[in-house]
Amino acid sequence: MKKLIEEMNERAAQAFERAGYDPSYGKTTVSNRPDLCEYQCNGAMAAAKAYKKAPIQIAEAVAAELKKEDMFEEVSAVKPGFINIKLDRGYLARYLMKMGQDSHLSVSPAEEPKTIIIDYGGPNVAKPLHVGHLRSAIIGESIKRMGRFLGHKVIGDVHLGDWGLQMGLIITELQERKPELPYFDASFTGPYPEEAPFTIGELEEIYPAASARSKEDEEYRNRALEATHQLQEGRPGYMALWNHIMEVSVTDLKKNYKKLDVEFDLWKKESDAQPYIPDMVEKMKEEGYAYEDQGALIVDVSEETDTKEVPPCILLKSDGASLYTTTDLATIVERVKLFDPDEILYVVDKRQEMHFVQVFRCARKTGLVKPETRLSFLGFGTMNGKDGKPFKTREGGVMRLERLISEINGEMYKKIVENRSVKDTDAEKTAEIVGLSAIKYGDLSNQASKDYVFDVDRFTSFEGNTGPYILYTIVRIKSILNRYLEEGGALENSEILPAASEGEKTLMLAAVRFGTMIENAFEEKAPHKICSYIYELANEFNRFYHETKILTEEDPRQKASWLALLELVRQILETSIDLLGFSAPERM
Ligand code: ARG
Repeated sequence: MKKLIEEMNERAAQAFERAGYDPSYGKTTVSNRPDLCEYQCNGAMAAAKAYKKAPIQIAEAVAAELKKEDMFEEVSAVKPGFINIKLDRGYLARYLMKMGQDSHLSVSPAEEPKTIIIDYGGPNVAKPLHVGHLRSAIIGESIKRMGRFLGHKVIGDVHLGDWGLQMGLIITELQERKPELPYFDASFTGPYPEEAPFTIGELEEIYPAASARSKEDEEYRNRALEATHQLQEGRPGYMALWNHIMEVSVTDLKKNYKKLDVEFDLWKKESDAQPYIPDMVEKMKEEGYAYEDQGALIVDVSEETDTKEVPPCILLKSDGASLYTTTDLATIVERVKLFDPDEILYVVDKRQEMHFVQVFRCARKTGLVKPETRLSFLGFGTMNGKDGKPFKTREGGVMRLERLISEINGEMYKKIVENRSVKDTDAEKTAEIVGLSAIKYGDLSNQASKDYVFDVDRFTSFEGNTGPYILYTIVRIKSILNRYLEEGGALENSEILPAASEGEKTLMLAAVRFGTMIENAFEEKAPHKICSYIYELANEFNRFYHETKILTEEDPRQKASWLALLELVRQILETSIDLLGFSAPERM
């Protein structure tokens, strides 16, 4: 379905042409002065230079042509050369009716669908999920959903951190605690026990204990390094332990991501990329990209135009060990081989930006990806507490994701019960749904690259620019729709009549912008644009609702029309929040 702005651009182009000017000047935009007009066209200003005429003269000629169209209620040329446009109400109503019948609400699926891999989540095995991983999961999930809505093939990969020192630390600590286990006996020939020698609770306690000790005890740290090395060499007992760690951890991670309504297509991990390293390194050496420097194997990636030093990529350390960079490069090799993607997008803390600059440059330079393959980095800022420092628990510890979620849900539960519109049996479930909207909207309504303050009181409020406010609006619409249906009204195929008030027209104009907004938000990988849009739409709806007696309207055609408009607004809001990664309850 053609977007309204496209229709308008076509008419504007034709008007320029008919007036004797190049049609390319016929571009219209949503007005930035809604007090004066709804749309504007500034093409006459640009054309004036090319045709050496006064802009107002051109604007007047084009406006005269535009007036002949049934699409507009008002077209005026104003000095110095703008064309101000108001849409015809009948046209707008008919457009919205078509939009309501379109399964994609006027968005046409991409003509050339792209294969896009999104690397997000990025949790580390055996370490509990903490709020730092929250942003990646929330932002990545939203971008994935947007891409799919627009018809792209999007593959979400969690890219588990499973190959680092944390594994050696856990093995070492476990050996301290339970030296009798067969995993540490090099002469043991198996089979190893099927059940893990720890629970997730123990595992989460073991890692921080080991990590703390390794910082003080050098001998211990060296043992952990050695264990990591032996694991990477494939020592059977350690591999068996690693499998236990993976299983216990991944089960727990899946449970947590499920609570967040975040779903990955791939549960790939750093270790999966290891088999690609030897050939990749060999090739980089052969082709002269990689060379030895002080024992390490490196690739230069600096460029002449750099204003800040970009250090070389270290592929292998002097002891032959590979690094985070090596793993990320080999992961690119694997992804190209398995999926031949048009784009790989990394949603990672912006403090890792330099790492990705190095990885991307190295991948390009050494030909790991085709020149047209996009490698993009969406770096997000830190989630801070009200004190402006990274978000912590009240006691000052690292805030675990599970705890954050349950605190928010508790807060929501209190508010919902105070509201008392929901029977107690529903309140808990409702609190979970609304709580998730508070967390996700609170995060996504900020531009991703900026740090933001996670303000529990504000985010859980039913008023203002919050998730609960959006849900409240949706629930309000649903309840009106339900009452109408209970009265025997029907929503299918009702006609939408031309706006009966300015408030209704403003609401309609906001609804019509959905398609362009989504395309633009995806193009810029900017979920916050969806948030500002639905906040505006919800505000326009609430304004309309307060000035219109919808259900008591006596003219049945008018009433049916308003309900059809409400149904469309509901669809837009619910589609939008689904793209943000949350949903609305039936009541709240
Ligand atoms: N596990 C990493 C961390 O916690 C994030 C991984 C991001 N993705 C990647 N391909 N490097 O910092």
